[in-house]
Formats: sequence, structure tokens, C-alpha cells
Amino acid sequence: MARYLVTGGGGFIGSNLAEALCRRGESVAVLDDFSTGNRANLAHLDGQIELIEGSVTDMETCRTAVRGAEFVLHQAQCRRCPGAWPSRCGRMKSTLPAR
Ligand SMILES: NC(=O)c1ccc[n+]([C@@H]2O[C@H](COP(=O)([O-])OP(=O)(O)OC[C@H]3O[C@@H](n4cnc5c(N)ncnc54)[C@H](O)[C@@H]3O)[C@@H](O)[C@H]2O)c1
Repeated sequence: MARYLVTGGGGFIGSNLAEALCRRGESVAVLDDFSTGNRANLAHLDGQIELIEGSVTDMETCRTAVRGAEFVLHQAQCRRCPGAWPSRCGRMKSTLPAR
């Protein structure tokens, strides 16, 4: 059993990934700020996933969320700017700057 972190796990793709991983018996944590996602997408996984509410733009939240994770499936995105690079999106960042 591996440990997975799904960012944006409250969204369409992330919640389906989380469900598929749970079905495989993996350990799953979801990080989502629910800016556009929906808690109802994860309701059926209650008790099977660790839900971390916060933003991928917050370094401390990310440090906590990745602890123990072997894989990170990064699905968090700003829906209002599909296809836009974070630096071009005036509304929000969706990734941390590389270090
Ligand atoms: N759905 C598609 O058809 C499709 C097609 C091609 C690529 N993609 C890509 O797949 C990824 C996921 O798409 P989706 O359709 O599931 O999107 P979605 O909008 O349904 O889900 C995105 C999730 O990210 C969360 N989020 C946004 N900003 C966040 C932040 N700063 N911190 C934490 N969570 C944050 C939202 O609350 C939401 O739950 C995106 O990168 C998208 O560009 C999607």
C-alpha cells in the first residue's frame, strides 16, 4: 500500500482519482481549498481519505500534506483561467514557485 496525495481532490478528476486509489486499497490524502471544488464529490469516501483543507500556494500546508506521501497527483487548478500559466493568471496562483 502506497501513500498518495491528490491536490485538487475535491474537483472532477481529483475526486475520481481518489476514489480509484481507495478502491485499490491505497492510502489517500486530499488537499483542496474548495475554491471551486465540491465536498460532495468526496462524501462517499468519508473515513477512507485524509482530507486537508488548504491551498497549494501555502508552503506550510504543502509540507504537512506531502509528509509520508510517495506520490503526489497534482490536479489543483484555477478553473476561471483554464490553460493559463499561474504567472499569467491575475486571480490566483495554483502552484508554488520552484525552489
Ligand atoms: N476536466 C477535464 O476535461 C480536463 C482536461 C484536460 C486537463 N485537465 C486538467 O486536469 C486538472 C484537474 O481538472 P478538473 O476538471 O478536475 O478541475 P476542477 O476545477 O474540477 O478541480 C480543481 C480542484 O482544484 C481545487 N483548487 C483550486 N485552486 C486550489 C489551490 N490553490 N489549492 C488547493 N486546491 C485548489 C478546486 O477547489 C477544485 O476542487 C486541471 O489541471 C485541468 O487543467 C482537465
